[in-house]
Amino acid sequence: MTDTETAAGQNRGFGVDVGGSGVKGGIVDLDTGQLIGDRFKLLTPQPSTPEAVAKTVAEVVRHFDWTGPLGVTYPGVVVNGVVQTAANVDKGWIGTNAAEIIGGELGGQQVTVLNDADAAGLAEERYGAGRAESGVVVLLTFGTGIGSAVIHKGVLLPNTEFGHLEVGGKEAEHRAASSVKERKDWSYERWSEEVTKVLVAIENLIWPDLFIAGGGISRKADKWIPLLKNRTPVVAAELLNEAGIVGAAMAAAGSARR
Ligand code: BGC
Repeated sequence: MTDTETAAGQNRGFGVDVGGSGVKGGIVDLDTGQLIGDRFKLLTPQPSTPEAVAKTVAEVVRHFDWTGPLGVTYPGVVVNGVVQTAANVDKGWIGTNAAEIIGGELGGQQVTVLNDADAAGLAEERYGAGRAESGVVVLLTFGTGIGSAVIHKGVLLPNTEFGHLEVGGKEAEHRAASSVKERKDWSYERWSEEVTKVLVAIENLIWPDLFIAGGGISRKADKWIPLLKNRTPVVAAELLNEAGIVGAAMAAAGSARR
């Protein structure tokens, strides 16, 4: 029996979600997309330098004694393990090989690093709000910034950055991230006008079949999704806190179809 399978032949993976405030990890049942046992969370170190975050990720992994391959999310563009952007995190990440740095803290354990929204999108499409959809699914996470994922029949088009799309002369995430709503003390009505503009800009370019709205504010989806005026259906994410962990585990296990 290895770390990735149990006596019952259950298919297991391990994911860590690195966010602005917490680093959360857990063992994932890849047949169901459910966590096996509890997740474990540590505070994100400040400043969130690559070395400090890598140590924290390693602590989370060791908490579970996990020795198999693992997936880790990162809130920016990651190409072949190398970080390309750092919009809302320590700029020291740019150009680093995140997979190698984290793997190094774990004695060479195999690490797959992917964009945070991409991980959430993979998980939602397979196990969550997109599981009944066979067309093109776009997941958007509304938080400090806006993250995006495009998935078609389980295949991810990695590193889309719709949060940085210019919409009416302004970056989408500066217009409609949930942090903008908070900062400007906007009502859901006011904020949903900006979200509508962003959704319309995206749907005019790639014509998805479904939008999934993620991020913390999707817990209050009933207060704002009905106010949106774009044409593509929008549904709230279902896996919420766990989507990043589950998607990271999928990517590491190679169970995200390529
Ligand atoms: C980054 C994305 C990330 C999103 C959510 C954006 O600013 O560019 O890569 O997915 O924030 O963390």
